[in-house]
This record gives sequence, C-alpha cells and structure tokens, in this order.
Amino acid sequence: MVGRIKLCALLTFVYFLTLTKCDLGTDLAARIAPDTSPDVQEDAAKQLIQRVIGLRASQWFQVEVNRILDPSSYQISRLDNGKVLITGSNGVSVCKGFHYYLKFVLKKDFDWFKTHIELPEDWDPPNVTHRSKSSSPLIYYQNPCVWSYSFVWWQFDEWRRHIDWMAMMGINLVIAPNQETIWQDVYTELGLTPQEIEAHFAGPAFQAWQRMGNLRSWGGPLPPAHRQLQQLLQQRILAAQRELGMSVALPAFSGYVPTAMRRVFPNASFTQSDRWNHFPDPYCCVLFVEPQDPLFQQVGAMFLRRVIQVYGSNHIYFSDPFNEMMPRVREPNYVRYTAKAIYNSMQVVDADAVWLIQGWMFLKSVYWTNDLIEAYLTAVPRGRILALDLQSEQFPQYERTHSYYGQPFVWCMLNNFGGNLGLFGSAQLIPSGIIAARSMPNGSMVGVGITPEGIGQNYALFALTLEQAWSPDELQLEDWFEYFALTRYGVNDTRLSQVWQLLRESVYSFQGRERMRGKYTLNKRPSLHHYPWVWYNVTMVYEAWRLMLEAKETVPLNDNRRAIYEHDLVDITRQCLQLSFDRFYVNLKSACRHKQLNRVEYLAGKLLELFADMERILASGEHYLLGNWLEAAKRLAPSEEQRPIYEFNARNQLTSWGPNYQIPDYATKQWSGLMSDYFQPRWNMFLEAVIQALKTQTPFNYSEFKQRVENEIELPFSNHTKAYPTSPVGSTWNISHDIYEKWNAYSRDTLFLNYCQIAVTVAQTQKSGEEEW
Ligand SMILES: *[C@@H]1O[C@H](CO)[C@@H](O)[C@H](O)[C@H]1NC(C)=O
Ligand SMILES: *[C@@H]1O[C@H](CO)[C@@H](O)[C@H](O)[C@H]1NC(C)=O
Ligand SMILES: *[C@@H]1O[C@H](CO)[C@@H](O)[C@H](O)[C@H]1NC(C)=O
Ligand SMILES: *[C@@H]1O[C@H](CO)[C@@H](O)[C@H](O)[C@H]1NC(C)=O
Ligand SMILES: *[C@@H]1O[C@H](CO)[C@@H](O)[C@H](O)[C@H]1NC(C)=O
Ligand SMILES: *[C@@H]1O[C@H](CO)[C@@H](O)[C@H](O)[C@H]1NC(C)=O
Ligand SMILES: *[C@@H]1O[C@H](CO)[C@@H](O)[C@H](O)[C@H]1NC(C)=O
Ligand SMILES: *[C@@H]1O[C@H](CO)[C@@H](O)[C@H](O)[C@H]1NC(C)=O
Repeated sequence: MVGRIKLCALLTFVYFLTLTKCDLGTDLAARIAPDTSPDVQEDAAKQLIQRVIGLRASQWFQVEVNRILDPSSYQISRLDNGKVLITGSNGVSVCKGFHYYLKFVLKKDFDWFKTHIELPEDWDPPNVTHRSKSSSPLIYYQNPCVWSYSFVWWQFDEWRRHIDWMAMMGINLVIAPNQETIWQDVYTELGLTPQEIEAHFAGPAFQAWQRMGNLRSWGGPLPPAHRQLQQLLQQRILAAQRELGMSVALPAFSGYVPTAMRRVFPNASFTQSDRWNHFPDPYCCVLFVEPQDPLFQQVGAMFLRRVIQVYGSNHIYFSDPFNEMMPRVREPNYVRYTAKAIYNSMQVVDADAVWLIQGWMFLKSVYWTNDLIEAYLTAVPRGRILALDLQSEQFPQYERTHSYYGQPFVWCMLNNFGGNLGLFGSAQLIPSGIIAARSMPNGSMVGVGITPEGIGQNYALFALTLEQAWSPDELQLEDWFEYFALTRYGVNDTRLSQVWQLLRESVYSFQGRERMRGKYTLNKRPSLHHYPWVWYNVTMVYEAWRLMLEAKETVPLNDNRRAIYEHDLVDITRQCLQLSFDRFYVNLKSACRHKQLNRVEYLAGKLLELFADMERILASGEHYLLGNWLEAAKRLAPSEEQRPIYEFNARNQLTSWGPNYQIPDYATKQWSGLMSDYFQPRWNMFLEAVIQALKTQTPFNYSEFKQRVENEIELPFSNHTKAYPTSPVGSTWNISHDIYEKWNAYSRDTLFLNYCQIAVTVAQTQKSGEEEW
C-alpha cells in the first residue's frame, strides 16, 4: 500500500502535466484506507457472511483478502472442494462480492430492514466465475443529519446490521460525528465551568445541528453519561467499520464554541452566527471563532489531537463552518484565508490530512458566487479536499464549479429531508447523472455516495445509486426495477414486477427543480392555502396497489419475504391514502370558497375517515410505529429520571422541531400514533372551525385557529407521555384490502363523484409561489 501511495504521489505530480482523474481517486482512497491487516478484514467478512446466512456459512463460502488485487475489486470462483471462494482487495470488496452472489446468482436481496437470508440445508453452490472492479474509488454514505433523524436511538445491534448492509453495498467511506465528551475535556482545559459547558450542548435528538453550529442547548440538558455512552458506541462502530476496511472521516473544529469562550478569551475575534430558523435566545446565534484568530488554531489542534487519541485516524476529517451560515466577509481573500486556516488546523496535527467538505453551502446560499467557491476550494492543495456534491440528483454543483475547481468530489444522491415517509424520487437522473459526471472532460469525480437526511424509505433509489456507483455501465432502469422486484420478493410474478414499473414511471419519475420533498397536505398544519400537486399519473399508484394486493399468494413465506412484501404494501397503501387526501382537500377548498356547507361536511367526514384508515394500516406494519421510536429513545436514557428528556426530544423532533414550532413538521413521519394523536386531531379541529364559520356565516379566522392548534395540540404533544404499541396490530393484507375495496366503492358513488370532481394538479413543476414549503 505504501508503494501505491508513492506511485500515486508520482502520478499526482505528473497530473499537472497530463491530468488523470483516475489517479486522483485511487490516490485519495489509498491515503485514507485504514491499515487493518488482511487477516482481520478476512475474519470480519467471514463473520458478516455468517450473520447473513447463518452458521453453515463456512461450509459454503471461503473468503480471502488480497491486496495485490486492484483496489475495490473482487473475484468469485468455485473451489474443488465445492465451496465458493470470494477474494477481494479488502473486506468491503469481499462483502460486495458476496452481495453480488446473493443478488445475481441466488436471486435473493436484502435491505435495511432485512439482512438475514435463508439457504436450504442441502444447498450446493453453483459454479460461478465472476470478477468485478468498482468504477468509483470511493463509495460514500451518510449525512450529518441522518445521525439525528435515524440513528439517534440506536444501540450496537442496530449498528451491526447496518454496517453489514453498508459493506455489502460496497460503501468504503463514512463519518463518525460523535464528539461531545471530547469537547467537554477541551472546554474544561480551556477554563470553562461545567455549567458553561452544559449550557452549550443540545439534547440527544438535536446533536447534529449543535455540531454544525445551527443551534445550541435546545432539547438539553445532554446527560454526561449519554455523552460517554455515545463515545463508547462510536468506538465500537468505528472498530467494526475499519475491520472491514472502511475509512471513517472524523470531526475537526469548525469554529463553533460555547458563549462563555468570550469570557475566557476576551481578546479573541468572535462572530455570532445568524439566527437559524427563528430559534430564540438562548438556543440561537452560536459563537464562532474567526478562523484567522490564533485561538482557532489552538482549539482546533487541541480538539483534533484528542479526537485522534480517542478514535484513531484514517487521515480524513470533516469541518463545515458555513453550513446554512454565511461567512462574515464577502471577499475571495477572506474565504481563501479561512479555508487555509481550517485546513492548517488539521495539518499541524496530521500532515496527511484530507478535508472532507459538504458542498451543501454552495447550494443553499446565494453568497457563494463562483469566485468565492474557487477561492475556498483552491486554498488547499489539490487532492487534500474531498467535496461532497450533496444533492447531485437534483441540484448538482459540480458543473458550475468546473468540477470543484479540480478538487476531487463525490456525486451524492440525497433524496429526502428529515426522513419523511413518502414514495418519491428521481430514478432516471441517477444512472445518467453518475455516468455523465464520471465521463466529464477534465472532471474530478472520484466517487458516488448517498446522503439522505433520514433512512427508512425509498430503499430502491439508494440501492440503485450504490449499484451504479460500482458499475461501469449505465444501469437500464426498466431492467433494474424488474430484477429488483424479483430479488426483493423472491418470486417471478408479473404483477409484482409491474408494481415496480408503475412506481418507476410515477413516484420515481420526478425531473424538475422543485423541492418536492415528502411533505404532504395531511402532515402539514391545516389551512385553506395549501396547493397539492403531483408530477405523475396517480392512477398508476392505485394500480400498483391493486396489483400488490393481488399478488399476495405468490410471495413465499420463507426467508421473511412476506414481511418485506407487507412492509411495501403498507407503504403503497399509505401513499394512496395520502394521494386521496390531497384530492379531498382540493375539493374541500373549492367547497369552502363556494360556501357549500353540505359538500364541506361530506368531505370533512371523508377526511377523518381516511385518517382512521391510515392509522389502521400503519399500525399493522412493524416499521411504521411511533411506539418503537419513543421506546428506543427512553431505553437510551442513562437513568429513570432522565427519561422525560429523551421522550421530549423524540416527540419534539417529529413535530414542533423547536420550542415554538420553529421548523414545523420538517421531520414528520407517517406513523401509527402520530396519525391518531397528532395529525387527525389537528385536522379535526380545523374542519370543525371551518364548518362552524360556514354555519354562522362568519369568515374563518385562521389566526385564531393557529393559536388554538399550537397551544392545544402541537406544542403539548412534545410533553405528553402516552405509551404506544411496539408491535404491529392486525393483518396488513386484510386491512389494506379492506381499505382498497371501501375507497374503490366510493369511486362509483354518485354523491362522492359529484363532490370530488376536482383533481389534483399534475405538473412536472408546481406553479411558482403557490406552495409554502
Ligand atoms: C467452474 O467453471 C469453470 C469455467 O466455467 C471451470 O474452469 C472450472 O473447472 C469449474 N470448477 C469447478 C470446481 O467445477
Ligand atoms: C487583552 O488585551 C488587553 C489589551 O491589549 C490586555 O491588557 C489583556 O491582558 C488581554 N487579555 C487577555 C486575557 O489576554
Ligand atoms: C481539459 O484540460 C485541458 C488541459 O488543461 C484543456 O486543454 C482542455 O481545454 C480542457 N477541456 C475542457 C473541456 O475543459
Ligand atoms: C420470469 O418469468 C418469465 C415468464 O413467465 C420469463 O420470461 C422470465 O425470463 C423470468 N424472469 C426471470 C428473471 O427469471
Ligand atoms: C394514467 O395511468 C393509467 C394506468 O396506467 C392509464 O390507463 C391512463 O391512461 C393514464 N392517464 C394519463 C393521462 O396518462
Ligand atoms: C381572529 O382571532 C384573533 C384571536 O382570537 C382575534 O384577535 C381577531 O380579532 C380575530 N379576527 C377576526 C377578523 O375576527
Ligand atoms: C413542556 O415542558 C417543558 C419543560 O420540560 C416546559 O418548559 C414547556 O413549557 C412545556 N410545554 C408545554 C406546551 O406544556
Ligand atoms: C384475514 O381475513 C380472512 C378472511 O376474512 C380471515 O380468514 C383471516 O383470519 C384474516 N387474517 C387475519 C390475520 O386477521
């Protein structure tokens, strides 16, 4: 490996004459690869295979890590003893080869919710010879937010399964953002009091935004025991990832510190960050140390040394001072020195440091003109910044930045914000986008990644992205979805493959520039001013639902295939109900406008009925339960007395997101429990008020409703302590079928048709200014 680095260093030098992007990526991947021995990686891969297919794994599979192979490559063959031999350049490549074998030889795939696969006892592995090399030196996963939206309550068991999944998808670069115990030590050494330090930390569900400098203290206190346990957990996660040969990027200083730093360093140069999303004092306006101030270097080095002590290092560090916050001065020189200072604070600690940055700031802000971006990125030697092009499927930045001005970048698929449920995405843009970026003349793309804010939905799109990451050829969507359906349910059924083709052509066909994140009318605070729209033919989704229901008998019971089928059936039923909701809603608006009391009452009844059905179907799916989220949060509390903090955090993140509905329903989930006790009551209150206004012939007073809904439903929800089921209730198929039949019957009912004539607008982009995202 040392040889490879030297060779690449030479090639990087030669680059200035010849420009070879492939070396940029290989060099970078080699620089940050963990130095785990082949034996350890082999063993880790062997154990992973055993977790996936059970104890007989070693009877069937033999693995080998061989560094002579090309980086990120594997070979599969059958030995004379009948076993399948998977040889890979590292542990991850072996696991990727194993995934290939499962999906393309055995036709059995897995996903986030399912990583166990059954093989018959008398199974005789077929003789397959296959070799493959990744077209992306780096395959990246994670967004700082996913740690708070999805991983926040996880313990090691959940992580173990998830890391197995990552390795099998070929992911070789992730982040490890946990850092609060380290900060506690640094701040103590700098002279802050325990109270001053505690006042800075946000609660357990809001750590991501405290780390990024967006807020402080909201949801706190953060119990010290929590910080220690999370650090231990992070160490275990890191160890498991590195054993497989994954690289882990660690946090470096990004300038944000407790307010009390001003007391201790009165002469240092600080700025206060902008108020983020209307957060009031004392939760907002985090103190920021100017990167040019010597204090930045001092704190940065102190912090990074400890980070490396606690976590070890793969020479890659992330720091994003300007995530949703603008630099103080709008000048190329200022941002250049800022970037130099940040990188320098890493390099004094680790001469080989690579700085991982999220391209998010370039996307979000009008501040970042091209000359500023160029100044920022080129302040650091080429190859020492790795930029994540964070939402390449919708808002790619690599073109306008001339491929990040030569700095290597990763093409990332983000898909969702806040982990909202809902079927949506831009499938077509993924393979073509990746191939186009990869073949860009003079391009510097060195990898592909996924950067969702939350997981647990739209799995197909993430699987598609990661497969395209590895594959040199552009994946053909129709074939890809066909095969996805086959390996997902373990049956070749035309109805099931049709379901996925219909989804591909409808919910996954978005191509516009709108922020069509998964927020729907039924999840939003009710008003008469929402403008639902879709970019697809909703009949296709209803048709997918019908086909899904019909195919029930063909889905095999073994291997937990039926569970995956039921999971998807809940999701599609949910999607259809949500689409129906939009339809009732546009008609409700029209009825209100025309003061048609009967019609309004009829539609109000239907909307409430729909909530009841939504609650029933969600309650039948184990991954759609508020109870699981709340109980997992409470389980993580170090003591009984601290449980209320955890429950409050868990509830608040899903609803008000802040003390006063700061980021309304941003991370909402369509879950059983939220449907019955949050969304439904809110709409109920609204519909009653609207009907009352019509009856008394007075104008509907929205501000009065807003005040009431906030005080009586939205804000109190965070403080409630009602417990919810943690196991599913009822038969998914029966419930889904029942709901299908019922709403289908309505579509033949004259009154219904008469009251519901208006359809939801279909457009590739909504009419501007209408929606209030
Ligand atoms: C497997 O197939 C390859 C070529 O297809 C052949 O060369 C090899 O001998 C076979 N191995 C076994 C163990 O049957
Ligand atoms: C801050 O600067 C003033 C004036 O230069 C000096 O007297 C004081 O000692 C400095 N304080 C600290 C904490 O360095
Ligand atoms: C690529 O780089 C070469 C050498 O610097 C330059 O001559 C050429 O114009 C560039 N091509 C594009 C499309 O930018
Ligand atoms: C599925 O079955 C059809 C015939 O019903 C066949 O043409 C097709 O090749 C099968 N697909 C796979 C992947 O086995
Ligand atoms: C919508 O999809 C359905 C079912 O596939 C189809 O029959 C119908 O023609 C489509 N409508 C439009 C406007 O494309
Ligand atoms: C609406 O309600 C608010 C709060 O109850 C009240 O102050 C206001 O006067 C009402 N507006 C109208 C037009 O009735
Ligand atoms: C919820 O509880 C917190 C204290 O934990 C309190 O500050 C807040 O006022 C309560 N909110 C409501 C709406 O009761
Ligand atoms: C589903 O409905 C069928 C037919 O009504 C019934 O026989 C069956 O017991 C139900 N299954 C469950 C799990 O409720």
